[in-house]
Amino acid sequence: MKNILITGGAGYIGSHTAVELIHAGYGVVIADNLSNADTTCLEGVKKITGRDIPFYKADCCRKDQLLPIFREHRIDGVIHFAAFKAVGESVEKPLMYYHNNLLSLVTLLEVMVENGGGHVVFSSSATVYGQPPVLPVTEDTPRMPATSPYGNTKQICEDILADAVKAYASVKVVILRYFNPIGAHPSALIGELPRGIPNNLVPFITQTAAGVRKELHIFGSNYNTPDGTALRDYIDVVDLAAAHVSALKRMEAYDKPGLCEVFNVGTGKPLSVMELVKKFETVNHLSLKYRITGRREGDVEAVWADTSLANRVLSWKARRPLEETLANAWAWERNIRGIT
Ligand code: NAD
Ligand code: WQD
Repeated sequence: MKNILITGGAGYIGSHTAVELIHAGYGVVIADNLSNADTTCLEGVKKITGRDIPFYKADCCRKDQLLPIFREHRIDGVIHFAAFKAVGESVEKPLMYYHNNLLSLVTLLEVMVENGGGHVVFSSSATVYGQPPVLPVTEDTPRMPATSPYGNTKQICEDILADAVKAYASVKVVILRYFNPIGAHPSALIGELPRGIPNNLVPFITQTAAGVRKELHIFGSNYNTPDGTALRDYIDVVDLAAAHVSALKRMEAYDKPGLCEVFNVGTGKPLSVMELVKKFETVNHLSLKYRITGRREGDVEAVWADTSLANRVLSWKARRPLEETLANAWAWERNIRGIT
């Protein structure tokens, strides 16, 4: 059995990926410093899988906290989720973002190389494309200068990984550029737990439906899109988690050194903010209070993925229908709020 270390595994995407890895027959070890998570999702993963997963409260920026994990477990690969991810906060606290997101990756790679290398799956983001001139975006679409320190950390991390692979034959890398991850596990035992006011659309919608927020603001209705609201590619978090299993399989099957591949992970289908809001209302038989306001600074008009490379090379495809994803998102919100 291959053992995979999941950094940031107590968080949103990491916890869903832990479940998919266990179901695919991997051994899982989780490291998280709980800077943006509590133990809710770790407990959820245990309930879903019936497994006691080794958990280390460890900061990936600290070699002394990572080394014991590698001493106590044979680690064949790492999925590196651990990072700060709030775009707005990164503008206010750039040094905190550069420190955490860059140092955690460098420290992890150092520890891996010292321990014989291994496979790395890295969480990158569609944010590296900015507003692409041609849609959908392929992996060859040039990256745009980052518009936030957060986005810049993703670009720099991609470059660090490409350089590491050239220098260390023991390291293989798959970089996944996530589009907009949404939804929750169908069990409603794990999902997104934003701290404070959510920045992202779907948690804001579910909190509005739950009565935690008064109304949803739709940021802009005068974009050059069919209904005037912005277009994104919303990918179900369980489908996204499955892409990490496919990425590991890809590296296991690739028997030459020097692998550093990049894949878009999305549905390949654009959806407008208004379409998503309406779909959420229909699927969950409720009415949302919303208001159209001005555009949010820094937002792009439209971005969605060409996923043919991941479909072909990773044999991975987004499967879950949007209806199911939005029902799961609402079931999770109801579960954590105790709404029947
Ligand atoms: P999350 O905040 O729920 O999970 C990240 C986890 O990492 C948290 O549990 C946090 O406590 C932990 N962490 C942060 N810094 C750490 C450190 N130095 N050491 C150990 N643990 C640390 O976020 P998520 O939505 O699950 O995102 C996971 C990854 O995917 C991040 O790298 C993020 O940038 C990337 N990503 C997320 C999205 C999205 O919309 N959610 C989109 C694209 C990319
Ligand atoms: C989606 C759409 C908003 C909230 C961000 C990061 C990106 C990646 C994913 C990490 C936009 C609109 C939102 C609201 C709204 N994260 N919206 N009202 O901005 O596409 O991407 O998360 O890598 O880097 O930038 O996602 O969910 O914030 O917004 O109208 O209250 O919903 O304007 O058009 P975004 P989002």
